[in-house]
Amino acid sequence: MSDIKNIDLKVEGKKRIEWAAKDMPVLDIIKNDFTKSKSLKGTTISCCLHVTAETANLMIALKAGGAKVLLCASNPLSTQDDVAASLVADYGIDVYAIKGEDSKTYFSHIKSVLDAHPDIIMDDGADLVSELHKNRVAQIPEIKGSTEETTTGVVRLQSLAKSGKLLFPVIAVNESKTKHMFDNRYGTGQSSLDGIIRATNKLLAGSVFVVAGFGWCGKGLAMRARGMGAKVIVTEIDPVKALEASMEGFDVMSMKDAVKNADFICTVTGNKHILREEHFKVMKDGCIISNSGHFDIEIDLVALKKMSKKVTNVRPFNEEYTLTNGKSVFVIAEGRLVNLGSAEGHPSSVMDMSFANQALAGEMIAKQHKTLSKEVHTLPEDIDIRIANLKLKALGISIDKLTPDQKKYMGSWEEGTN
Ligand code: ADE
Repeated sequence: MSDIKNIDLKVEGKKRIEWAAKDMPVLDIIKNDFTKSKSLKGTTISCCLHVTAETANLMIALKAGGAKVLLCASNPLSTQDDVAASLVADYGIDVYAIKGEDSKTYFSHIKSVLDAHPDIIMDDGADLVSELHKNRVAQIPEIKGSTEETTTGVVRLQSLAKSGKLLFPVIAVNESKTKHMFDNRYGTGQSSLDGIIRATNKLLAGSVFVVAGFGWCGKGLAMRARGMGAKVIVTEIDPVKALEASMEGFDVMSMKDAVKNADFICTVTGNKHILREEHFKVMKDGCIISNSGHFDIEIDLVALKKMSKKVTNVRPFNEEYTLTNGKSVFVIAEGRLVNLGSAEGHPSSVMDMSFANQALAGEMIAKQHKTLSKEVHTLPEDIDIRIANLKLKALGISIDKLTPDQKKYMGSWEEGTN
């Protein structure tokens, strides 16, 4: 069973999946290992991930390992309908996802993948784990564990664990260095700009571009916006990160001050209502606002709607809010993840490492669930190192090795000032 937009889109979807695979050599090695080891045999893995060409390659790798795989979307606007069609038609994977699905359909799709009685969960944002803990407790004894892709999901799960209510082990894939240092930074940096540009075709050079949040994602976005010639302002609530942004050469100020001159504002904080009534009131006419944090609550769209005379679609994924004060504000991709809503998400080359971590986390749960405590775990460091080495090799980069003497020196305390 599946619920997708149109199976006839499969031809385009297959081409897209195959194109992405070319830049996913590490996942390909893991897929080949899985094909031999069948280490996921007998498992049912329900996944709630962005339905993209990169995710398709992860699903194919899991299936090669012997798992039964089901996939639903982790965001109502991030699905690539052609990829969904190809996964169903060409790869025999059940998919429940339609780009632009309403909230009711989104949650019915979450239910569908859980109705398959999975024993392993793969989440991006913790919606499956949340549904299991809230409404499907009877199913929990069947669950060996879950993996979590994103910062926001990890924060939710850590808070669940802290309250003592987490009922199975979780592996926080986001915490691997080969995930967050690359996907969050270079992936978000490039793909968010891609989304903003596709929806507006505006020139960034010379513009004032405000980045809210200077975590890994914000760092990447600020760096890339500067690279396109924008004058970048960073807003933060964390004094250390604010200082870091300042010493990176960005202007740092409060959002109230930043909005006054902003041509573009993109929120990447993981928190809510970063842009709200007090900010909308003082925005420049024509300001373009978007969000690249996981949930669509960083921009208070309810308040914006209340302040508006009308909302008009002006381009794909671009809505003009005409305010009662006569000015206009443009919202990209409905305030949902701009990189997946109005573009195609992170490039395959970074998702290669993220999904290598996902695949190995799934395997770790399949093999070690009996000894894993009901906590939020990270993948062991040797997995990070293996993935980094495989990626370097695929990129044709060789690095130095410690000499025996250097190794000894690094493990000793005796040698100091000469
Ligand atoms: N998250 C960000 N970009 C993605 C992509 N291309 N595929 C799946 N998840 C993503």
